[in-house]
Amino acid sequence: MFGKRGNGFSDAGAIDVSKNDPVSQTPDGSNHDGGQGLAPAAVNVPIMEREAPTPLIDDTPSIETAVESTSLRNEDYYDTKTSVFSALIETIDVGQLAKMESDAAREEIRDIVSDIISIKNLAMSISEQEDLLDDICNDVLGYGPLEPLLIRDDIADIMINGAHDAFIEVNGKVREAGIRFRDNSQLMNICQRIVSQVGRRVDEASPICDARLIDGSRVNVIAPPLAIDGPVLTIRKFKKDKLTLDQLVNFGSISPEGATILQIIGRVRCNIVISGGTGSGKTTLLNCLTRYIDTDERIITCEDSAELQLQQPHVVRLETRPPNLEGEGEITMRDLVKNCLRMRPERIIVGEVRGPEVFDLLQAMNTGHDGSMGTIHSNSPRECLNRIESMIAMGGFNLPSKTVRDIITGSIDVIVQATRLRDGSRRITHITEVLGTEGDIITTQDLFVYKMDGEDANGNIIGKHVTTGIGRPAFWDRARYFNEENRLAAAIDAAQDAAE
Ligand SMILES: Nc1ncnc2c1ncn2[C@@H]1O[C@H](COP(=O)(O)OP(=O)(O)OP(=O)(O)O)[C@@H](O)[C@H]1O
Ligand SMILES: [Mg+2]
Repeated sequence: MFGKRGNGFSDAGAIDVSKNDPVSQTPDGSNHDGGQGLAPAAVNVPIMEREAPTPLIDDTPSIETAVESTSLRNEDYYDTKTSVFSALIETIDVGQLAKMESDAAREEIRDIVSDIISIKNLAMSISEQEDLLDDICNDVLGYGPLEPLLIRDDIADIMINGAHDAFIEVNGKVREAGIRFRDNSQLMNICQRIVSQVGRRVDEASPICDARLIDGSRVNVIAPPLAIDGPVLTIRKFKKDKLTLDQLVNFGSISPEGATILQIIGRVRCNIVISGGTGSGKTTLLNCLTRYIDTDERIITCEDSAELQLQQPHVVRLETRPPNLEGEGEITMRDLVKNCLRMRPERIIVGEVRGPEVFDLLQAMNTGHDGSMGTIHSNSPRECLNRIESMIAMGGFNLPSKTVRDIITGSIDVIVQATRLRDGSRRITHITEVLGTEGDIITTQDLFVYKMDGEDANGNIIGKHVTTGIGRPAFWDRARYFNEENRLAAAIDAAQDAAE
């Protein structure tokens, strides 16, 4: 239409604590020896000798405090927990517990554990008891030591590298999580529990698995023998309240003028590729851009693990499927994108383009589905274009490179580059237009770039978003068609003024 197209073509408690579930058998997942029942009462087990305990002024410690305190637990704590846990498993009827509502099951466990503590005559303060009760309930009914991390909304990623190494990312910084698992079997059992909820399996025979928590968090597990030091669990926490463009402006990820330009690009049906490294904020940005899509458009999203939250009423969400144990039934991203084309989409949104589906997406962009979007792992707009070319080549499409480049330039209007800087902050570093080809080279123009000026005394990167002096972007006609040219001109002028 604008001359560019037409190139020719847990609730945690809901978990079943049945006897088959090894997590519910012992905290370490192995079969306990059974010798620590309730009988030998009055064993005085020293418990939780925390180094320099800080008196809590508030009775209800914050989650943060709770997590920090776990790091202070010593071996005695874990020994005591194992002994109480073993006694608990001897006492409860696991099958019966599985039939109970989660709150009731939790109450039941709390009552029994309190009894065990008093029968065993364990010397514990109220708060220590509470900690132990929570811990044990989490082990039996939930995801064990992961629970306190899962309920925190400030954590972006949880990374568990075997039983004793756990890291979290908070505010862009990775730090130790202050939790540990009893051993690798407990961790493995929790991984199995997580993935079994979405009907998948992880074990030595199929040691790699993607899954999703009930709250929508994205999960990856890689188990031994592939992971040498024990199961590795990576969770991208699902943010209930997705970041908005306004918030990105507040964080300094983009300037207000840059944000306006992004809004316009999203609204006027430019075909957009969001490029960025791991965790750089690609999905977040894609989600932000979709907010500016008009409500009467039919949008189809294709994702490996549904993360996008579109606000529009007319949205169809599709998700890929891995093969089953017999290696059958796989539905790839390519299958989804191809099928989309038969579903009368107005816009197609691909969560992450990583293979030959790029060709189908470009074709869709090129054949009337203007305003389609996708994300690609790459570190600069130029690298993104190269990656697209190699993904097409890897897909076995035997096309001359000139044709491939023509297809790319005929399809993609804008590349938005997201970057996670070394101080942990995320910035939109480029808004780049794809113009066409000159000879063998794809030509692009940057509308906006982020210029780094150094770092402040705290190690935070300082810099600013600047325009490159382009007065009229190539999508100007498109903006005019959508009656957005005044807003676009004002944003570009303001950005130029701000840069002076
Ligand atoms: N501009 C930003 N400022 C602060 N935090 C951000 C920003 N953008 C994203 N985040 C946070 O960073 C984390 C990773 O974001 P996101 O999932 O969008 O990254 P991604 O590039 O899609 O990652 P992946 O490559 O793993 O798919 C999320 O917790 C998100 O809330
Ligand atoms: Mg993503």
